[in-house]
Amino acid sequence: MPVVREFQYSDLDQIMYHVADLFDQVNPPEFYTLIYEHWPEGFIVLEDEGKVHGFIIANLLSADDARILIMGIVKDSQGKGYGKIFLKEFLDRARRANIKKILLEVRISNTKAQEFYASLGFSATGILKEFYQDSEDAYSMEKKI
Ligand SMILES: CC(C)(COP(=O)(O)OP(=O)(O)OC[C@H]1O[C@@H](n2cnc3c(N)ncnc32)[C@H](O)[C@@H]1OP(=O)(O)O)[C@@H](O)C(=O)NCCC(=O)NCCS
Repeated sequence: MPVVREFQYSDLDQIMYHVADLFDQVNPPEFYTLIYEHWPEGFIVLEDEGKVHGFIIANLLSADDARILIMGIVKDSQGKGYGKIFLKEFLDRARRANIKKILLEVRISNTKAQEFYASLGFSATGILKEFYQDSEDAYSMEKKI
């Protein structure tokens, strides 16, 4: 069974591969390492025998609020309940770090992710016009924890 642990630098290649695969997005390695160094507890990985199955990359907005920048379950591991277990673990860890609220954005076309977050108690709080580089709008979602 996969385990949840903090990001390690050796995960970088796999994470960059899966971010490109899932989101068609390429970020420089420093994007990941700087986020990790600013708030290590906010960058967690779902791993099994060296294989990354998922990742949550979050930063701190204030002492009370954190924002999920990227969450992904790799394609061949989706729909098996891993996302739910993983996000619950992230919420537990954030609670232990005295975070009170988690915010995130999701593409308005990504109904699967909207249902996923709603199933874990996130609510849509507004629409962010042309939030993404390709001009798609986003829903902002949040959950008090
Ligand atoms: C969205 C994502 C994180 C969900 O993780 P997952 O491991 O596939 O989801 P789970 O198997 O844990 O499912 C949990 C819940 O999500 C919802 N869900 C999952 N797959 C779904 C689908 N195809 N359609 C609608 N709802 C779905 C359901 O509410 C489900 O609960 P249920 O099984 O009790 O019905 C994952 O599919 C993913 O990484 N997708 C691509 C990247 C992405 O969209 N990330 C979020 C961007 S903001």
